[in-house]
Amino acid sequence: MREYRLLPQDSVRSHPASYERFVERGFERAVRRAQSLSPGELIRDVSDAGILGRGGAAFPTGRKWASVADAPFSPKYVVMNADESEPGTFKDRVLLMDDPLGALTGMIIAARAVGAQRGYVYIRGEYQDVEARVADALAMLKEHGFLGDGFSIEIRRGAGAYIAGEETALFNSIEGRRPEPRVKPPFPTVHGLFGKPTLIQNVETLANVAVLLSESVAWFREKGTEKTPGTKLVCLSGAVKNPGVYEVAFGIPLKDILFSEALGGGLAPGRTLRTVLLGGAAGTFLTPQELDEAQYDYPSLRRLGASIGSGAAMVFDDTVAVEDVLKLLAHFFADESCGQCVPCRVGTRRLVELLDSPDGFDDAERLRDLGRAMQDASICGLGQTAPLALLSYMDRPTLWKRSAV
Ligand SMILES: Cc1cc2nc3c(=O)[nH]c(=O)nc-3n(C[C@H](O)[C@H](O)[C@H](O)COP(=O)(O)O)c2cc1C
Ligand code: SF4
Repeated sequence: MREYRLLPQDSVRSHPASYERFVERGFERAVRRAQSLSPGELIRDVSDAGILGRGGAAFPTGRKWASVADAPFSPKYVVMNADESEPGTFKDRVLLMDDPLGALTGMIIAARAVGAQRGYVYIRGEYQDVEARVADALAMLKEHGFLGDGFSIEIRRGAGAYIAGEETALFNSIEGRRPEPRVKPPFPTVHGLFGKPTLIQNVETLANVAVLLSESVAWFREKGTEKTPGTKLVCLSGAVKNPGVYEVAFGIPLKDILFSEALGGGLAPGRTLRTVLLGGAAGTFLTPQELDEAQYDYPSLRRLGASIGSGAAMVFDDTVAVEDVLKLLAHFFADESCGQCVPCRVGTRRLVELLDSPDGFDDAERLRDLGRAMQDASICGLGQTAPLALLSYMDRPTLWKRSAV
């Protein structure tokens, strides 16, 4: 049995995206197998494998595919979301640089399952090296007949804004409009890009599809846990010896990701752990005790009120005050709010003002009220999740500077 597969074991940035590589990685086999299955069988395999979306929301991939396939409108589109602007998240960049053929194979398979004739890869504007790598891979796939006949893919460059990664803002961006989110419902599966049924998936989700089809559902489910099968790319950053992108099986003890020699390698000598911010800017601060107990899978983290999000794990040692991190995050959200709706436009600014004021952290009632209003009334995920890290900190007094050692 081969080990984890999303990230190739040999670093392959110097490999061209060649046909030989496509065969060697098992992706040609994956496409051939997909061609031998009906769209319904493909959707069944993806559902049975239990792949959850890796872009942040962990939505069941098979269910999304079924909705797009069932939508009674055409044409249909498949979009790969490679916008990757979440702070502390850099896995899609590594994945596309090391192995662009995997996610593109997943896209070709997805198009067959949902009945799409056209696809778009939406790449973060700053990732010009990634764009070149994907363009090379597309050219090879076209030359060898895997694209062009029935399904074609174009690249679109991101608009340089965090919000452009939100799926409906991304559609507006491709359509040549400002990247502002749309009100949902209607959902993209029926009314997405150009108002047509659209399957939008994260890079890593699509790479999982390629691996699944080149192996089998049983193989896929051998890794991870019953409720969260497979592996996850973790973006480990901050106060660890070995920051980087690691592919781990779901269910691994969270502390192993930070401290095992093969992964994070622990903290610098003499330092102690203050907290881990799990899931990105809209993530959850965990205490060292929670970190000791948690497994890296959805149910285990949900019990702590935390989430895997996009896979970011930012580690802070005792040289950092969590309050300073929260101020930076508040500025980030205020800068990146698209300004379309009041709870987020005004709320993110009010958070900055409060947290930057001398006693801002003491006014717990006002912070909670503001946070709840933003969660309840914002149009999109940015405003709804912007207060989450702050609320998680307020629920954990041992992280407060005034009580920290
Ligand atoms: C503010 C905001 C930014 C987002 N940025 C990204 C992103 O950069 N990449 C991504 O895959 N999903 C991002 N998402 C999630 C997408 O809206 C969408 O859920 C995802 O692309 C679906 O793919 P998945 O089901 O494979 O996870 C973002 C969501 C929000 C609210
Ligand atoms: S929640 Fe924020 S980012 Fe989302 S639509 Fe409203 S203003 Fe724009």
